[in-house]
Amino acid sequence: MIDVHTHILPGIDDGAADWDYSIKLARAAAAEGITGIVATPHHYDGKYTNDAGTVRELTAELNRRLIEQNIPLTIQTGQEIRAHSEFLANWQSGKLLPMGESSYVLIEMPSSQIPKSMEQIVYELRLLGVRAVIAHPERNAEVVQNPDRLAELVELGAYAQVTTHSLLGGFGRGIEKASWTLCRRGLIHIVASDAHHLEWRSFRMKDAYDRVEEELGPVWRRYFERNAQAIWNGRELNDQPTLVQQTAKAGGWGKIKSLFGK
Ligand SMILES: [Fe+2]
Repeated sequence: MIDVHTHILPGIDDGAADWDYSIKLARAAAAEGITGIVATPHHYDGKYTNDAGTVRELTAELNRRLIEQNIPLTIQTGQEIRAHSEFLANWQSGKLLPMGESSYVLIEMPSSQIPKSMEQIVYELRLLGVRAVIAHPERNAEVVQNPDRLAELVELGAYAQVTTHSLLGGFGRGIEKASWTLCRRGLIHIVASDAHHLEWRSFRMKDAYDRVEEELGPVWRRYFERNAQAIWNGRELNDQPTLVQQTAKAGGWGKIKSLFGK
């Protein structure tokens, strides 16, 4: 499994506090069957600034330590970049990192609303051959209230990443419900952990994929798994399955299966 949104690098944001903790997180990921992780520390969010050079250095050092300690996990560089007015200028001057070696970039919106600059960022990135991946839209109040606003961004070329804990109810019933609504509308393309620590924000990738399979069917599990792999390899995302409306009406894949006695 590949996890494309994590806070595993030590001491630079509200994720892993030090090297010991980064290694602890890495061991937990490997134990869950995760083989590749994109490190995406917060950047430009008003609290943390983690420039590309720092992320590259820490990622190289973490990979060195993983090899030394025989942990079967590889880390690629990335950033979770808050949408900001100089985003495009900063991207073009090479200050911002994509997810791994791909042409996808992880963008975070504030939790209260969709910033005015978002449409322009998504659209102009696409003109540059780069695709915005919107981090956890299910935690954005404007999206939850009106999913059409996310649909507009997807139409312009954005992809969206839902967080495992949101799907599993870790952020409460409201966000859980919003997550599945967005999934069933075909507005989610990637599942990732946004892991910060082991207490209540760890990986849970397998649990989330199991739940996706239960709710939406195995074809959606494969779709999300293959998309994470596609980002890891810098390839295009896969075509979306078409089961969404049917499963929503029928009350989930489990119900459909039971109708056919399987
Ligand atoms: Fe994050």
